[in-house]
Amino acid sequence: MKPPPKKRIGILTAGGDSPGLNAAIRAVGKAAIGVYGWEVIGFRDGFLGLAEDRWVELNKSTLAGILTVGGTILGTSRDKIHRMEIDGRIRDMTDAIAANYRRHKLAALVCIGGGGTHKNALRLVKKGLNIITLPKTIDNDVALTDATIGFDTALGIAAEALDRLHSTAHSHHRIVVAEIMGHRAGWLTLGAGIGGGADVILIPEIPYDVEKAAAAIRRRSRRHGNFSIVAVAEGALSKEYAAAFASASRRKKLARSEEEGARIRAELKELDDRHAGNTLRLAQQLESLTGLEARVTILGYVQRGGTPSVTDRLLATRLGTACVGFIEKGIFGVMVASRGGEVKPVPIKDIAGNLKTVPIGHQWIEAARMVGTCLGD
Ligand code: F6P
Repeated sequence: MKPPPKKRIGILTAGGDSPGLNAAIRAVGKAAIGVYGWEVIGFRDGFLGLAEDRWVELNKSTLAGILTVGGTILGTSRDKIHRMEIDGRIRDMTDAIAANYRRHKLAALVCIGGGGTHKNALRLVKKGLNIITLPKTIDNDVALTDATIGFDTALGIAAEALDRLHSTAHSHHRIVVAEIMGHRAGWLTLGAGIGGGADVILIPEIPYDVEKAAAAIRRRSRRHGNFSIVAVAEGALSKEYAAAFASASRRKKLARSEEEGARIRAELKELDDRHAGNTLRLAQQLESLTGLEARVTILGYVQRGGTPSVTDRLLATRLGTACVGFIEKGIFGVMVASRGGEVKPVPIKDIAGNLKTVPIGHQWIEAARMVGTCLGD
C-alpha cells in the first residue's frame, strides 16, 4: 500500500529584511520536518514568488548553518498582492496566489513580515487559506506583540553607532545628528537614543520644536565641552510639518469627490517630498541656532544587515517552533506573538493596518525625560 502523502507547508519572508529571518525559517522548517515529518517549501522573494510560483524545497541540508546568517535565504519583496507589478502591468494576484497555494496542496502558509505582510495575509485569510504569520521588523511596530524579530539586533547596532559618535563629537566640539530608521514609529530611535546616551531624541510620535532642541544643546554645551548627540528618527516631524500632515490627512478622509481626494493626495505627496532631507535641514537649523558646528550620520541599511543578536535568534526560534505547534493544532488566521514572556496566537485581523507606535506615556519616554534627555517638546 502506498504511504499517505506527507503534509506540506509553505513559508515566505516579505517586507524589508531584518536580522533573524533565517533563524525563523530554520525554526519552522526544523520543527516541521524533524518533529512532524512534514514537507516544507519556501517561496522566493515574498508574495511575488508565490504569485509567480517560484519556490525551493527546504530540507535538513538547506536549513543547516543559517541560524546566524543575516538577511533571508528566500529573498523578500514589498509587493501588495492586490496591486502587483507583473510583466510591466499592475495586476491583482490574489486569486493566482490562492490557486498556487492549492496546487501545492499546502496545509498552511507561514508568512514572516511586518505591517504590509499582515495586510496581504489578511486578504489571503479572507480567501480561505490557512495563513499563520510571525512578526518581524527592525521598527518593532507590529501591534499585539511585545517584540518583533530583528528589533533587538538593530537596537544594538544603532546604540553602538551612537557610542562611537560620542568620541568624535566630543573631540571636535560638534553636534552630531544621527538618523535612525523608523518612518512612523520611534521605538528604534528612542531605545537606541536612551541606551546610547543621546542628548536629544526626536521621534515621529512627538512633533518637535527645533528651538527647544537647540535650547537643550545650548544649556548642555555650557557644561559639557560643547558637544551633543541628537538621535532623530527618519520619520520625525517638526511641529509645523506635523500640523500640515494632520490637516491634509483629516481632509483626505472627508473628501467628497474623486477630484478633491486626488488634490489632497497630491498635497500629501508634496509634503512627503519636502520632508525628505529633514535630517540635514535639522542639522543646519541646530547649527545656526546654537553656533556649534553640526554633522549628520545616516545609519541607513547598516541597521538591517548582518548577523542577528542572540535575543533575536531566541525570539525567532521560540516563535517559529510555536508556529508549527499551532499548525498541528489547526490554529490559523493568527500571528504568533510574544506577549508577557509567553507565545500567544492573536488574530491577523486585529494586526493588519494597526501600527504599534510609542504611546506618549510609555515608560521609555518617562525614563528618557528623567535622565534629562530633550524630546523636542
Ligand atoms: O524595515 C522597515 C524599514 O527599516 C523602515 O524603518 C524604513 O523606513 C524602511 O524599512 C526602508 O526600507 P526599504 O528602503 O527597503 O523600503
